[in-house]
Amino acid sequence: MAMVKTTPVLPVEAYTSQDWFDREQQAIFSRTWQFAGFVEDLSDPGDYITVQAGLNNILVLLDDTRQLRAFHNVCRHRGTQLLRASGKRKTFLTCPYHDWTYNLKGELTAVPERKSQFPDLDLKTLCLHNASVETWRGMLFVHPDADADPLNQWLGPIEPYLGPHQPEKLVEYVEGRARHTIHANWKIVVENYIDGYHLAHLHAETLFMYDHRRQQTGFVGHHFHFYEPLAKDYLDGIEDNSPLPLIDHVPKDKIGAYVPMLFPNLGLSETESSWSTFYVIPVAPDKSIVEIRTKVMPVSSWTYVAQEWKSWNYFKHRKWDKYGTGDADDPLASGDFMAEDIYVCEQQQRSLKTPYFSIGATAKDLEQSVYQYQRNVLSYFESG
Ligand SMILES: [Fe+2]
Repeated sequence: MAMVKTTPVLPVEAYTSQDWFDREQQAIFSRTWQFAGFVEDLSDPGDYITVQAGLNNILVLLDDTRQLRAFHNVCRHRGTQLLRASGKRKTFLTCPYHDWTYNLKGELTAVPERKSQFPDLDLKTLCLHNASVETWRGMLFVHPDADADPLNQWLGPIEPYLGPHQPEKLVEYVEGRARHTIHANWKIVVENYIDGYHLAHLHAETLFMYDHRRQQTGFVGHHFHFYEPLAKDYLDGIEDNSPLPLIDHVPKDKIGAYVPMLFPNLGLSETESSWSTFYVIPVAPDKSIVEIRTKVMPVSSWTYVAQEWKSWNYFKHRKWDKYGTGDADDPLASGDFMAEDIYVCEQQQRSLKTPYFSIGATAKDLEQSVYQYQRNVLSYFESG
């Protein structure tokens, strides 16, 4: 029998020091596939997005033949960033500094004052550096290395543990987009996401629709998988109880919450009525951003209103306030499980500063995910 490990794997500095943070950017985020968005973010030739992958800013676009391409977003002249954020229908890529210009295949096509200033320059030698881009379940992923191992080799093994959801058939619920700044290290946010112990406690009032005692979790490679069924009373009347229209291609015997964490920083949340990405962006040792995007059934807005009304009977008697303080400004009384999670992540980050901080014990089953995740981080960190 495998021995259960309970001592923490990562030291406090892993969550507080700039040196650790910088090494992670190199050893983890520059060497793994990073989430870049949804396939439908790029709909026409010349549409582009940019995404940070560790030390690398990557530019993803659809070229004239609608082929996906990824480049390092760095002008070959003196390294200035070519494009900012995202945009539509560019026909060429021009660096703002000296107007060096590339086509959508990344080939350098125009250099101002070329004949007089660069008489010997062969444009072909200064194409943009290629990166890798691939799609998976309706998502775009990038890798800084043009010769990266295929995405399917990285994510394929976790697929049997994901929900039966087909994100390609769902539509983005634009009002569901959220961006949270969290004053905590990115690993604290991830560890909170995969910690099955707190669900029945911190979220006792906010995630009561799920049966936390029947959670099934594990790792495949570096990726974490999590499933728990719906609570019986919620499931029994699910057609009425769900606040959003049910996802029609999820069979009733497979219904539940699938909440994997794809290494290192992309959580998915696949439920009876929605499918979301939970993208954790490291900003500083004590600061992270979480970007949430959600897809739902493509049905009319009237269907949404009608479903919300039907579910009122189930939800109207719930109290959402953990301590019953009634203070709407208190995250623990907000009725919002995300606000509850942000609160504890930030509290934990603050406590790392006191000399009295230590991990007293790690739950045998319910916190093994955190222990294993830290080992996975460390294995990348030490090999990078
Ligand atoms: Fe939570």
